[in-house]
Amino acid sequence: MEAQMSGNTPDIKTALPGPKARALIDRDGAVVSPSYTRGYPLAIARGYGAMVEDVDGNVFLDCAAGIAVNSTGHSHPDVVQAITTQAQKFLHMSGTDFYYEPQVRLAEELSAVVPIAGGSRSFFGNSGTEAVEACLKLARYSTGRQNLIAFLGGFHGRSMGSLALTASKAVQRRGFGPLLPGVYHAPYADCYRCPLGLKPENCAAECLDFIDHQLFVHLVTPDEVAAIVVEPIQGEGGYVVAPDQFLQRLRELTKTHGILLVADEVQSGMGRSGKMFAIEYAGVEPDMLAIAKGVASGLPLGVAVARKDLMAWPPGAHASTFGGNPVSCAAAIATIQLLKNQLVKNAADVGAHLKAGLTSLMDKHAIIGDVRGRGLMVGVELVRDRQTKERATTERDAVVSAAFARGLLVLGAGKNAVRFSPPLVLTREQADTAVRIFDEALIEVVERSARL
Ligand SMILES: Cc1ncc(COP(=O)(O)O)c(C=O)c1O
Repeated sequence: MEAQMSGNTPDIKTALPGPKARALIDRDGAVVSPSYTRGYPLAIARGYGAMVEDVDGNVFLDCAAGIAVNSTGHSHPDVVQAITTQAQKFLHMSGTDFYYEPQVRLAEELSAVVPIAGGSRSFFGNSGTEAVEACLKLARYSTGRQNLIAFLGGFHGRSMGSLALTASKAVQRRGFGPLLPGVYHAPYADCYRCPLGLKPENCAAECLDFIDHQLFVHLVTPDEVAAIVVEPIQGEGGYVVAPDQFLQRLRELTKTHGILLVADEVQSGMGRSGKMFAIEYAGVEPDMLAIAKGVASGLPLGVAVARKDLMAWPPGAHASTFGGNPVSCAAAIATIQLLKNQLVKNAADVGAHLKAGLTSLMDKHAIIGDVRGRGLMVGVELVRDRQTKERATTERDAVVSAAFARGLLVLGAGKNAVRFSPPLVLTREQADTAVRIFDEALIEVVERSARL
């Protein structure tokens, strides 16, 4: 398997989907929820590193990583070993009622890497949304305040509390109201589309004035706000990087009013940005962090990490039967080791290379309006016109499909961006392959659009 798939080159042998993938997709259509958002028909059989083989033997370069999850690559031997060793001991005991070493050890490891000085505690769930829910509950519990502020374009999950914060796509909320009351949204620092027409170089994050000058004046007084929840880099919203001053000012604002700052690093965390956590670029310490996705290389795990003094709720206040599953914890411990040893650095190095390669395509393709990101979290925003910035949504979808047809897995983000979120083991050669295929996909789609 390893020898078979260790190359960097995608290899498409059948029409897509191939016959076995087609059969699987037909079965899926009959029995699986149609709410999932499958952009193209990939049916995986196995993966190795940043390569994926489908059920028909087609080989793809994976720049999607199961929505930014397979941080150490598909089935990294160290992670598989850690999982196997733990699975042979016990699969579950419930950290809610009992003790086991992997959960304690993981909390210790996380305390050592999160940007919270003075110690932290961890609450374990199974997913990103559960990590966010835990942060919300703890914020309300510890402040005695009810209201929450989040940002337009943000994505925080799909359970009822986190969904109330999510303001990415209306379809994600449509039909599910009423959601959690007392949630307000402010504009995010989307500098490519700055609502104030400013440039990040000479702006002091004026978009945050909306909170001070509008929300706090017209809708809610700050002394009733428990927390502000922010993605340091918006993920689902389009890989939008908040400038450092935005996060720094947000920290000042929250401190002034005794509001907690929750960094949702479910997507940007665990090394993906080229630092262990993206908020570190701004030198800002949040009060809580929501972590999931890459933390356990693909096993389900979500963690709410908070300042030690904050996480002081009593037994029974919050818990989860499966949260902190020992096999997931073992995978996370192995993952953190790999991240610390080499992969955070690799994400920074290869991410810069990938971003430079994608940026160079701007000379050739007017449809690329913006290339942005940090580490191996790179977004390419497609526009019909660089001046008007009209969103090229159908073209974006077509480019993602054309890339798939050529053996490159990428996902859309926001209305018109393509996200590159590969495993953090991606090599420079693989990054070059991704850029080459993306270039070909753009050529195909632009030529096709011109013929219409
Ligand atoms: C920033 C962020 N927060 C929360 C979530 C929700 O995570 P999950 O799908 O594991 O519930 C996501 C998922 O994409 C995310 O990107």
